[in-house]
Amino acid sequence: MKAYRAAVLRFDPLRDPHQSAVYEEDGLLVVGPGPAGVQTVQAVGPYRELVGQFPGIAVEHLPGRIIAPGFVDMHIHYPQTDVIGSPAAGLLPWLENFTFPEEKRFVAPDYFAQAATFFISELLRNGVTTAQTFATSHPESVNALFTESKNNGMRMITGKCLQDRHSPDGVRDQTEQSLIDTEALIQQWHAKGRLGYAITPRFAPSCTDAQLRGAGELAAKYPDVWIQSHVAENKDEIKWARELFPNSRSYLATYADFGLMRDRAVFAHCIHFDDDDRALMRDTGAAAAVCPTSNLFLGSGFFDYAGADRVGYRYGLASDVGGGTSFSPLHTMLAAYYVGRTSVEGLQSKPGLSLSPQHLWWQHTAGAANALRLDGVIGNLQPGCEADFIVLNPTATPLLARKTARASNLDELLFAMIVLGDDRLIQRTVIAGTD
Ligand code: GUN
Ligand code: ZN
Repeated sequence: MKAYRAAVLRFDPLRDPHQSAVYEEDGLLVVGPGPAGVQTVQAVGPYRELVGQFPGIAVEHLPGRIIAPGFVDMHIHYPQTDVIGSPAAGLLPWLENFTFPEEKRFVAPDYFAQAATFFISELLRNGVTTAQTFATSHPESVNALFTESKNNGMRMITGKCLQDRHSPDGVRDQTEQSLIDTEALIQQWHAKGRLGYAITPRFAPSCTDAQLRGAGELAAKYPDVWIQSHVAENKDEIKWARELFPNSRSYLATYADFGLMRDRAVFAHCIHFDDDDRALMRDTGAAAAVCPTSNLFLGSGFFDYAGADRVGYRYGLASDVGGGTSFSPLHTMLAAYYVGRTSVEGLQSKPGLSLSPQHLWWQHTAGAANALRLDGVIGNLQPGCEADFIVLNPTATPLLARKTARASNLDELLFAMIVLGDDRLIQRTVIAGTD
């Protein structure tokens, strides 16, 4: 067992997520072996109250530093690291002109292996300890990412993209083979250590009925496997999806019609929804990955936080690199704050709708874990959670030091770090008690 003494940030799962942050100015985090052989949080609380309960324990003192849960990125594309910052008129030309050409390159082993290595190190540098990630349609790209994640002891959820139509040569897969490959990858990797498989229909327009049906059958056969896809991101995409699946009530309902909405199903974007779509999310247990930097960069639109909270379905934050512009959860939280200030109708600010800093932080940690149905496992520093955490240095830059020193409450401190922070704020990233 080992303990860390510093300020500690965590979230109370029993409180309203808008105000659930718990902050111990002089805290102690005790880490030790958990049931599955993974290091977990054994105790957390005020240093003075707790230290006496662990006589002789080695305590690493980190004065001036803040320990916080590792960030959870609910939706990112590991083959799109080099697509960041590719401007396009909108989603569909962006896919055609930048993204598919890049993903074609993942047929070559030296290409996907170096991409996986770089991707994981970039996540860790930015304090991301769990990600749900798209691979490409090439099964080997999945093997490369799982292998690299395993070497780092990292929790990773990924899957082979399913896209058997409306995709160019080099990324388009074959219906039957794609489903055989998916099942083989589930059996090889899912629930092996900290790895999880996600059945990954890229988006309904890139999949035939037969491929979606097969994906839904696998989702029923393997109920604890994740599902990840995209929905209601862009107006042209929605129009196209409606033409291709006219019998479904809405674009989102297409996924339900093929058995692809349930707990552990995560849909990126979820921008252009009506209340029936929101109720479908709530009633099926599916979750939204909110991708603000991507949605702003590609001009896709603004996630309706008020609508999501009114109807009540799960959501969390995601970078969506390379549509998204940054690996840094701090940048993503700031973009989400901007989005929270807009209204869907007209962009005028809505007084009272701004997202609080602690709610933004929750969306990228405990909230994202909850949306992935991994609450109590990751994304928080409650006893029993896996010991994935970060050490923040609030004096990492002169401006951060100046601003955080003036913070007179927790929200001011978190806001200073969200607005001014980047990878320099992340001093250390600890994966399952190891760094
Ligand atoms: N829809 C289908 N594929 C993609 C993708 O790679 N990125 C985004 N943002 N949307 C998509
Ligand atoms: Zn995406």
